[in-house]
Amino acid sequence: MRFTLISFIASVIISLYATPSLFAGAPVIPAPQSAEMTNRPFDKKNLDRVKYVKAKALPAEAYELQIKSNKIIIKSSDEAGRFYAHQTLIQLAEADALYRGVIKDAPRYEWRGFMLDEARHFFGKEQVKKILDLMARYKLNKFHWHLSDDQGWRVEIKAYPELCSVGGIGCHSNPDAPARFYTQDEIREIIAYAAERHIEVIPEIDMPGHATAFTKAFPELGAGHRTVNPANDSLYAVLETIIKELADLFPGRYIHIGGDEVSTQGWRELPGMKDFMENNGIDSYDDIQKCFERRISDIVAAAGKVSIAWDDVIDSGLDKDKTVIHWWRADHPESLKKALENGYKTIISPWDPFYLDYVQDIKCKEGHLVWKQWVNGLDEIYDYKLSDDQLVMGFQANLWTERVISDERLAYMVFPRLIAIAERAWTSQGNLDYDDFLKRLENEYRYLDSIHLYYYDFRDFNHHPEPLK
Ligand code: ACM
Repeated sequence: MRFTLISFIASVIISLYATPSLFAGAPVIPAPQSAEMTNRPFDKKNLDRVKYVKAKALPAEAYELQIKSNKIIIKSSDEAGRFYAHQTLIQLAEADALYRGVIKDAPRYEWRGFMLDEARHFFGKEQVKKILDLMARYKLNKFHWHLSDDQGWRVEIKAYPELCSVGGIGCHSNPDAPARFYTQDEIREIIAYAAERHIEVIPEIDMPGHATAFTKAFPELGAGHRTVNPANDSLYAVLETIIKELADLFPGRYIHIGGDEVSTQGWRELPGMKDFMENNGIDSYDDIQKCFERRISDIVAAAGKVSIAWDDVIDSGLDKDKTVIHWWRADHPESLKKALENGYKTIISPWDPFYLDYVQDIKCKEGHLVWKQWVNGLDEIYDYKLSDDQLVMGFQANLWTERVISDERLAYMVFPRLIAIAERAWTSQGNLDYDDFLKRLENEYRYLDSIHLYYYDFRDFNHHPEPLK
């Protein structure tokens, strides 16, 4: 008995004073830059004993998290770094992995984004806020909001109420559905909600193609084939007013001007087009869009914003200091090459593998298949070869919603693939390890269950049966 007591006391003394074991790594997504943890637990009841230290030398969004015996020290140069340190702490606490140690962390890319298309189907602000919450948890920082397309115009413009009252009618699955759109007050509410989570909101108004909702409200400015009429001078006055309102409404740096998949068909027979081409020194129909893009990009710049445009506009001669190229055409690698060679800052979201409307499993019945037998699975996303070019701002996943109607399907298509995107965009190359990611993802499956999210379960196809709408 006496011997047992003595050995117990000795083991307590040893555990208190012996050098603790050190563990590299922490069960957090995205994986941090470095984590040196001990086997000495930190008492959760001290979680609110946090001291903040301003560390000017740390880069934007970076943080150092010291978990001491009875307090926590967070160093960062900005609020975002502080916020991300807390996201890490939350995940550690949930995983019962709060040990004393030091985590040093910083993002690999400044652009870590997600695009939601609410033109094809409208989900509403509660769904958007849910997505923003999850983006923040995984340290994503750009919410690209596709607010206009053929099927609907979704942002209130005070100068032109008909954009929403007429252009907002319908959606992909029902052209007669009552108008759905965000009022400016609702937009401000969402922007503020995002800002509290260190997420910038970028609106997209897609032109000169994908513009049917706009031309429903302004038939005189349309040219058929889902396009506006670039030869009509009144178009630019209307677009200038819209862009000015958007610039006032959205405090971020960027406005996305679209520019993808434009047909020149409707432009060929337009009265006034001959003169427009002559006046602008153009002799090919393909050059009409280039002219339009330069004019819109100037309007955006005059409103104090930087344009982002899909890489279809790569030959439009846009000013590289006022334009970011958004590369999506995985089948046009030369377009990405050209963007970088011509000095454009570039966002990477090729449809293979970063489009989340493409299915994640060959067994899925609904959704795009990449070619016939190829899917945008978790491993494809995780293994995507990254560019280290200084002009690459970062990565983004896009969800087009022609085939996404319900909230369940929205969650099913986005999670957990967006979590893999987040790790790719944040974690440095040397710390990427797919098997380890899958282990850490187990904690996130538990978390997603706890908030009742209808995610796609890569471990068990039947966990959440595929919602077909
Ligand atoms: C796109 O997917 N059309 C940008």
